[in-house]
Amino acid sequence: MKHNKSKIINNLSNLLEYKNLSKIKEYIIEIKNSISNFNTDGYGFLNIASDGETIKLSEKYLISELNQIIETQTIQRTKYYIKRLIKGLSEVKTSKINDINLNRWKEYSDIITDSLWYLDKRDTSGAHNAGYWGNFIPQIPNQFLRRYTKKGEWVLDTFLGSGTTLIESKRLGRNGIGIELQPKIVKLAKKNIADENNLFSDKKIKTEVIKGDSTEIDYEKELEKIGIKSVQFLIMHPPYWDIIKFSEHKNDLSNAKTIDGFLNLFGKVVDKTYPILDKERYLAVVISDKYFKGEWIPLGFYTMQEVLKRGYKLKSTIVKNFEETKGKMNQQELWRYRALVGGFYIFKHEYIFLFKK
Ligand SMILES: C[S@@+](CC[C@H](N)C(=O)[O-])C[C@H]1O[C@@H](n2cnc3c(N)ncnc32)[C@H](O)[C@@H]1O
Repeated sequence: MKHNKSKIINNLSNLLEYKNLSKIKEYIIEIKNSISNFNTDGYGFLNIASDGETIKLSEKYLISELNQIIETQTIQRTKYYIKRLIKGLSEVKTSKINDINLNRWKEYSDIITDSLWYLDKRDTSGAHNAGYWGNFIPQIPNQFLRRYTKKGEWVLDTFLGSGTTLIESKRLGRNGIGIELQPKIVKLAKKNIADENNLFSDKKIKTEVIKGDSTEIDYEKELEKIGIKSVQFLIMHPPYWDIIKFSEHKNDLSNAKTIDGFLNLFGKVVDKTYPILDKERYLAVVISDKYFKGEWIPLGFYTMQEVLKRGYKLKSTIVKNFEETKGKMNQQELWRYRALVGGFYIFKHEYIFLFKK
């Protein structure tokens, strides 16, 4: 069987004229059995010729659609699924805020839609590395950029650190801006981003690293320099107050003397970025709670309140697993003992609050 998109669609359309269910199924089974003859890219996608170009189709998606057709008992149902498959192969249906093809939503099985995230291993492909103490795992920006931005749109990370968000935006064909206070970390981020030469990197995509204070910077002016007026996604991964002290700078959030001081600085960033985020677009804040003198401080929820006060709508509270920090590594036994003695629980989660403007 020759695997050409329009030929497959024509043959499927012809089946809609059939009156005999077993004849239809025979043909569908024939396609299914021939999948092993399709060209594949080695990553679970089939390469199918279409009008002089090659399109990619998830093998898992195609098999699941074909199985559904094979398993139906009535001709009406069978034809309904065939029509759905034709639509999936021929039309692209996306929402206003991402490029997910809703006609083939089953292809996106790795996009998380639950509020409990267990991310097993850090993605260390390309330029990603765990070198910066306090960085987040690349899967966090990856999930959000795919779900809340379209290719070619702009994302802003106000606490860039080692550049994880911009490595990911470059890979995914989104433009990115990152702000970082510490000159040496700005250098590190620039190096990491330049090292990202992923196959999928789009040469036209821009990544701008700004050395500056995200509580004070003139955002409109910075965007003007780049030639844009707004961004379509905001991500904030502030210091978790003073858990890791990043620098001596007075406006470094990890340097705040009190929790109110921390929340005040964070609130400024939310205030200043609000006008440059497009309406109906999203902001993600990654944060955890902390302990102080034997008491659990709900830093995450306090931070969430700062955002809500400023008119954002809460869309999700995501709880994500949190693996050992360097300080606690290889000390599980000791921490377990301390927890039993002290009547507390060991931190194993952090929060990602997702808001909509
Ligand atoms: C938790 S880290 C972010 C890590 C980042 N997500 C990554 O993957 O590397 C927080 C960063 O915010 C920076 N920072 C703290 N206060 C800042 C401020 N007022 N303006 C800009 N950056 C700030 C710190 O230097 C630190 O690099």
